[in-house]
Amino acid sequence: MEKLVINGGKPLKGRVKISGAKNAVLPIIAATLLGQDKVSVLEEVPDLDDVQTISAVLQKLGVKTEYNAELNELRVDATEISCFEAPYDLVRKMRASFLIMGPLLARCGKAKISLPGGCAIGTRPIDLHLKGFEALGAQIKIGHGFIEAAAPNGLIGSRVYLDFPSVGATENILMAAAMAKGQTVLENPAQEPEIVDLANYLNVMGAKIRGAGTNVIKIDGREKLIGHGYTIIPDRIEAGTYMVAAAMTKGDVFIENAISEHLKPVIAKLKEAGVGLEESVDGIRVFADKRTRAVDIKTMPYPGFPTDMQAQFMAMLAVSDGAGLVTETVFENRFMHVDELKRMGANIKIDGRTSIVTGVGKLTGCQVKATDLRAGAAMVLAGLVAEGQTQVGYIHHIDRGYDKLVEKLIALGADIKRVDG
Ligand code: UD1
Repeated sequence: MEKLVINGGKPLKGRVKISGAKNAVLPIIAATLLGQDKVSVLEEVPDLDDVQTISAVLQKLGVKTEYNAELNELRVDATEISCFEAPYDLVRKMRASFLIMGPLLARCGKAKISLPGGCAIGTRPIDLHLKGFEALGAQIKIGHGFIEAAAPNGLIGSRVYLDFPSVGATENILMAAAMAKGQTVLENPAQEPEIVDLANYLNVMGAKIRGAGTNVIKIDGREKLIGHGYTIIPDRIEAGTYMVAAAMTKGDVFIENAISEHLKPVIAKLKEAGVGLEESVDGIRVFADKRTRAVDIKTMPYPGFPTDMQAQFMAMLAVSDGAGLVTETVFENRFMHVDELKRMGANIKIDGRTSIVTGVGKLTGCQVKATDLRAGAAMVLAGLVAEGQTQVGYIHHIDRGYDKLVEKLIALGADIKRVDG
């Protein structure tokens, strides 16, 4: 099994180019299933394991996909779909595979998907997705480890209220409603930039969606959507991770492509921590010449502080001056990185959904593991500032969501390599 070996203590300096957003590209690849007549050519598609997994799911459905890693271009030919079933081995690998249910149901009138099952960061139910499909007239059957949804006479537009602004449920319902008969009004949807990106892609395919990014989305269903080209937005979580890396290592990094508008809470908290930031249309410069100050963070749905930046901030707080509170409200059980950070000398106490992080003078390198994607990023950040050598194992989690992490960090001056064993 591969691992990352990091010798800490090098300040990061230079420029890093942010890749296309993982959480935008996955639903958009699922949405290509709605595209008839023409091939969809997606640009700025990051070279990630998750992109390969969802492409493999599409291939199981008889769809042709072709990825060009050099151009970061993915061609999807969904002019014909020959199967409606997503198998366990792929859905288990990546929960986001469940995002094909909405488009399959809309395009083919039926879908059968293996139940996603548990996951490292809590139970992550899918009740809101199913509630949405049912409101659009689908019949749902659960049994033998599968969920089957059927709408033999097509979906019908309706009013759908989400009890919680789930990102995945909003996306699945948007894709289903895009081809339903009549209007769907989706209340209390997620407002993440990735939702807006998906809606923009659906609209260039011929959908009529208004209000994405606000708390009410109106979707006028269309009989047919056509495959179309689209360029994916930059990954705000990847950008945020490099911003924290620059701050923690007392570096000076220009984060090319980062969109400030998408990163408001991260920028606000870094400023509060005493980090220097210069925002421009091309990206964000992040610089620091002294230790950061502790800040409190509380994760919330967008536009609140992103849960996907919680672990990275915790790594920063572990070596900040003072004590900060980290409250996780989006997921249960998303503190798996705490034990790993403690192995490196961090002072963290967990009290329910809140952690108290008291900064220590230094972290010390040792063997740790990536318990999930963002926890893995946090361990890399900790390794970049730790005294001595840090070895991060289970890096398949990191490969799911960080495009060319090692190459990008080396270009910024980090001492990091990927090794076998
Ligand atoms: C997406 C992101 C993930 C991010 C998360 C929250 C992708 C591929 N993944 O995940 O990186 O951390 O948003 O910003 O975009 N919930 C229910 N019932 C449901 C659905 C969700 O109770 O039917 C709960 C979940 O258990 C969780 C919360 O809602 O506690 C947020 O989940 P959701 O917004 O759906 O996250 P994902 O779409 O899975």
